[in-house]
Amino acid sequence: MTTSIRGSQLARLLGRWHALPGRHRSPDYAALAATVRGLLADGRLPLGVRLPAERELAGSIGVSRTTVSAAYRTLRETGHLTSRRGAGSWTTLPRGHRVATSGLWAAGDDVDMIDLGVAASAAPPELVPAARAAADDLPRYLGSAGYHPTGLVELREAVAAGYTARGVATSAEQILITAGTQQALDLVLRLCVPAGSPVLVEAPTYPNALAALSARRARISTHGLDAATGWDGEMLLGALRQTRPRLAYVIPEFHNPTGHLMDTALRERLVATAHTTGTELIADESFVDLSLTGDPMPPPVAVFDRHSRVVSIGGMSKGYWGGLRIGWVRASAPLVQRLAAIRVGVDMASPVLEQLVAVRLLENSRAIVTARRAELCERREALMAALRVRLPEWRFAVPAGGVTLWTELDGPISSALARAAEDVGVRLAPGPRFGLDGTLERFLRLPFTLPPEDLAEAVRRIAGVRHDLESVARPVWRSTAVIA
Ligand SMILES: Cc1ncc(COP(=O)(O)O)c(C=O)c1O
Repeated sequence: MTTSIRGSQLARLLGRWHALPGRHRSPDYAALAATVRGLLADGRLPLGVRLPAERELAGSIGVSRTTVSAAYRTLRETGHLTSRRGAGSWTTLPRGHRVATSGLWAAGDDVDMIDLGVAASAAPPELVPAARAAADDLPRYLGSAGYHPTGLVELREAVAAGYTARGVATSAEQILITAGTQQALDLVLRLCVPAGSPVLVEAPTYPNALAALSARRARISTHGLDAATGWDGEMLLGALRQTRPRLAYVIPEFHNPTGHLMDTALRERLVATAHTTGTELIADESFVDLSLTGDPMPPPVAVFDRHSRVVSIGGMSKGYWGGLRIGWVRASAPLVQRLAAIRVGVDMASPVLEQLVAVRLLENSRAIVTARRAELCERREALMAALRVRLPEWRFAVPAGGVTLWTELDGPISSALARAAEDVGVRLAPGPRFGLDGTLERFLRLPFTLPPEDLAEAVRRIAGVRHDLESVARPVWRSTAVIA
């Protein structure tokens, strides 16, 4: 099946293409072609997608058909488009190029690449012993068919106990085990977000949440987080009151990508406001285990929920290992049953063995998570030290937890930098991947999940290409934007 993109959709992706930073005398068709190349390079426009017909796109972005025609011709010449008469034009990459910077948001297979595109750690040493112990536990389940759509009771109990320990009484019936937090999100969206529903998310936010929302055809609006200070309570609650979304998706603990932690007061007000606006609230707690300060944590958002408005999702990918693919939903028991019914139509149930491994890991959670935090502290220091030496003009707030440094660059260069870094063996997640509209070019998410020496080497290479970018782009940065 061919996928295609409509003119209005491409127009949305193109955003303010005609006002590219540093654009002066380049004609419209060249700016349009450059923006399409940028979208392809940072993965927001997939490969193999049929672009709209010239006339349709011209109508959608308000330019002449000749301009679109010339842009498409340029893209064909550079190898970014292949056309067949009468059939259309498909996105491609020039020969010899790989898909840059996580066109797929996934770990790369290239062993020489330093992958800073993925914000997750390698498995802890306890994983193999846990897997061996789980294999010994397996015979208990082998006498049944092995399908448990809500999850194994013992794992549900362990997860529920974790919530209870954090201050929100939870029973096993309120837990649904899923294939990672991502599936938890997808299932909740399937249930709660009919196509076309308004949904509020943070900007920046986790890119695969945006992907899951797009798949449900949600109408997404955003609340902007400040890189230095995080949520602006008044703005967030104001956005809720104004847009009265069907659902709001937030990452209150060590937000991906900014690392901010939502304070207790805002949690309480958020839940109260969501109730008045009739909004379901998804709290994505992916990073809740990873405080790097030792300070007491605010209570889970669900603590303030008196009307079953809050659905919490979380998982073991960040504190333990992403390869386990174990996540969960915490919701009311009836909602869990409804989600399980949907889940049967997706993948029936989670694998029994992996769930048993998860049980074993959770038995040992204190030791595993303590070691993970210590490792992350050391790596965060290594990354910050390397940046301060090699790229002193870049700015970041020191995150109190999580695994990422949301770095403000010295110009709107994130996508260009990611493309250049790919050539020197560093995969980066440029700022625009964390937003909707092609903004956030001044930001770069740098995870500190790799060993210190890899982080230092990655920063050394990034600083090198940053310097080259500078010499190529100098006329652009020198120009003044305001004439008064
Ligand atoms: C905020 C957030 N939610 C969900 C996920 C997906 O996690 P999982 O591997 O548990 O599906 C991630 C992974 O990066 C994440 O950062």
